[in-house]
Amino acid sequence: MSEDLSPIPPGTLPLSARSPGKCIVFGEHAVVHGAPELLFALDLHTQVLVRGAARSSLNGDYEAAALHPYFRSALESPWASRATVDVRAVSRIPRGAGLGSSAALSAGLAATLSSLSGGVDRSTLAQRSFDVERGAQGVGSPGDTSAAVAGGFLTVNGEASGPVLWTVRDGPRSWEVRRVADPGWVWVVAHSGIPRATGDAVRAVGVRLARPDGPALLDQFREVATEGTRAVAAGDRATAAALMNRNQELLREVGVSHPRLEALLDAARPFAEGAKLTGAGAGGSVVVLPRPGAETELVRRLARAGGLPFVVKPAPSGVGLVDPPA
Ligand code: MEV
Repeated sequence: MSEDLSPIPPGTLPLSARSPGKCIVFGEHAVVHGAPELLFALDLHTQVLVRGAARSSLNGDYEAAALHPYFRSALESPWASRATVDVRAVSRIPRGAGLGSSAALSAGLAATLSSLSGGVDRSTLAQRSFDVERGAQGVGSPGDTSAAVAGGFLTVNGEASGPVLWTVRDGPRSWEVRRVADPGWVWVVAHSGIPRATGDAVRAVGVRLARPDGPALLDQFREVATEGTRAVAAGDRATAAALMNRNQELLREVGVSHPRLEALLDAARPFAEGAKLTGAGAGGSVVVLPRPGAETELVRRLARAGGLPFVVKPAPSGVGLVDPPA
């Protein structure tokens, strides 16, 4: 696993950055309420190209500086260069799929605009990328943006086993982000094709967890993610897989599964050791730990069940500057 946490150097326009998506293995939603989360940076990327321009635009849209929530949030950040920029964003991460497309865009914008205003160390970049996403979404935790900035496997609010990479703050709240060893497994994700809004799902879970059984449910999320993170770090597939299935039951209980996600999970089951939704849910995607050797058949079944499947591995490195296309 690469540990490239080098700073983003100062740069001049044109600038380009490549930023990975993310896949949550344990703890989505519960992490917003202080429970642990385990996730990895996905080897599907967004690339942004930033050029000088008389007026700022995103993919040719001049209204975006005022209306696109992530672009606007980045441009209005106190640390961002005041240069007007033409930004082109190209992504292999399906949008609104729970696979970190908005975090990858936020980190790509934060990296390039920080480079333009003198460069930035990686822990400050993690905070800035979260601030961009948080400013656009209004709710959420820094897991997704931290994965885009750090690469590899991470835990947020996890137990004190791996080294702390950074602490991300949001007013009085803070989240500690730690490195977890990559067990080297291959994963399959599949997008249901049902778009979803992270903010709406997060708010609905907040309402659900405010009910009298909420604290007990949150304790179960905490336990599954803690045990699951230990199992992944120890390379114990059977335990990790069983806990993924258990995490899915909890996510169903808080109301963020969806009939299309359940259909994909049913299709996956004969070829899966463990499977669950990943990300905000209510649509979006599933993540499957395949039975070794069953990856191809699993992909076929998921596609036949209406999903858009990808065989994925963790991206070892987080966002970085790349040569702008000529
Ligand atoms: C979204 O990818 C993950 C959630 O836990 C929200 C967040 O942590 O920001 C649902």
